[in-house]
Amino acid sequence: MDSSQWIDVVEDKFKYKLDHFVVPGHYKDDVESILIPHGIIMDRIAKLAQIITSEYDNERVVVACVLKGGHQFFSDLVNLMKKALNKEGKTLPMTLDFIRVKSYENDKSTGNVHISMTEKELKELKGKNLLLVEDIIDTGKTMQRLLETLSKYELKSVKVASLLLKKTPLSCGYVPDYVGFAVPDLFVVGYCLDYNDIFRDLDHICAISETGKKSYAV
Ligand code: HPA
Ligand code: MG
Repeated sequence: MDSSQWIDVVEDKFKYKLDHFVVPGHYKDDVESILIPHGIIMDRIAKLAQIITSEYDNERVVVACVLKGGHQFFSDLVNLMKKALNKEGKTLPMTLDFIRVKSYENDKSTGNVHISMTEKELKELKGKNLLLVEDIIDTGKTMQRLLETLSKYELKSVKVASLLLKKTPLSCGYVPDYVGFAVPDLFVVGYCLDYNDIFRDLDHICAISETGKKSYAV
């Protein structure tokens, strides 16, 4: 996917005030601004579901959610993909799977990527089409590590759909096959994106505030 195909969220332009939308009262001091309201997220996913589905042949695809952050995007995307049509104008047979990957503590990547799949589970992917569904590509190192691991297991195809791609100088250069929005270099939370497991219960994608970072640091 080249950059003309995703929505570029520019910080100044997209800074919605918290007062203009419904934000849970328990987070009012913990987020700075709304970058992407929930309705726009949903409308964009509807389009991604059409694009992604239309690029597959009539073969079963294993759609794998990268937990925990990817779960909301995964469930909304899969629901919309069920109603979309593939290359041959048919609905796409899908199998759903879940992979737990963890590398972040506070707002920093720890550098250690822990992948939950067993050797047996990885071997079962041989010859299959895999679509990984991720919430955000930040430095890209987590996904690079995951793809490196998967490359040893002779899959038929591996594609990655990420709702967000962060525009950061720390990027390793990895760009996923499908992107919803490119976001500024801020720590973002909401729509299941977390800061130490907090903020998953916020619908909009928001920039965390300094107060928020302090309140929930570990
Ligand atoms: N927010 C939440 N999770 C993340 C981020 C972010 O900005 N970057 C990497 N994981
Ligand atoms: Mg995460």
